[in-house]
Amino acid sequence: MDSEKRPLPRHVAVILDGNGRWAKAHGVPRAMGHKAGCETLEKMVEAAARMGLEYFTVYGFSTENWKRSQEEVGALMNLFRYYMVRIIKIANENNVRVRMIGEKSRFAPDIIAGIDRMVESTKDNTGLTFVAAINYGGRDEIVRAARKLVEDYRKSGEDVSHIDEALFASYLDTADMPDPDLMIRTSGELRLSNYLLWQLAYAELYITDCLWPDFNQEELEKAIAAYNSRERRFGGR
Ligand code: IPE
Ligand code: IPE
Ligand code: MG
Repeated sequence: MDSEKRPLPRHVAVILDGNGRWAKAHGVPRAMGHKAGCETLEKMVEAAARMGLEYFTVYGFSTENWKRSQEEVGALMNLFRYYMVRIIKIANENNVRVRMIGEKSRFAPDIIAGIDRMVESTKDNTGLTFVAAINYGGRDEIVRAARKLVEDYRKSGEDVSHIDEALFASYLDTADMPDPDLMIRTSGELRLSNYLLWQLAYAELYITDCLWPDFNQEELEKAIAAYNSRERRFGGR
C-alpha cells in the first residue's frame, strides 16, 4: 500500500467512542461494551507500537464522564483496575512507555497507585509512548496550567510579557510531547468533547463510523492513509 511508504504521523490521538452503542447493538449491558473497548485498547497499543508510532494518546475517561450513572462509573473503575495491570505487561513486552494526562487525584487510592505503577514500571522503555487521557478535560488542563503558572509568576515576580505559547505549553500535562498530527474519533460524532483543546490546534481530523470495540489496526491504517493523502496547512501559504 502506498501509505506504508509515507512517513507516519508522529503523534496520533484518539477519542474512543461507541462502547455503549456497540453494547446496544449486541444486546448486552453497557459495561460489556466498555470491556470490549478495553480489549480493543490493548490490541491497539500493541498495533501502534508495531507500526512505529512515537505517540499514541487515547481518551478513555473525561472530566464529564463522572456524570454517568454510579453503576457505569463503577464498572469503568473496575475495568481500569484490571486493565492497568495488563497494560503494564503489554507495554513492557512492546518497549512502550506509559504516561497519563488528566487529573489523577479524583481517583480512588488504589487506582492512583496503579497509574503510578504503570508509569514507573515502563518509564525506561524507548519505543512508543502510550498516553492515557483519564479524568482528562481540555479546559481543566488549561485551568490547572494557568494556576501553576500564576503561582510561579508570583514567586518569581517576573514580567508577564515573558509568558509565550511555548512557556504556557510547558505547564500543560502534555509538556515535552509533540502536538498530535492526526486525531481520530470513532463512532461518528463530529465534536471534540473537551479533548486536547490546546494541542489539536492544527491536527488533521478523521471521524469514522466504526464503533471503538470494532476498531483495529486496519482501521488505523485507513485513517493514516487518509491523513497522508491530505495537504497539511498551518495557516501560511
Ligand atoms: C466511550 O464509549 C467510552 C467512554 C466515554 C468512557 P461511550 O460509553 O461514550 O459509548 P456511546 O457513545 O454511548 O456509544
Ligand atoms: C468522549 O466521549 C470522552 C471519551 C471518549 C473518554 P463521550 O461519549 O463522553 O462524549 P460525548 O458525550 O459524545 O460528547
Ligand atoms: Mg460516547
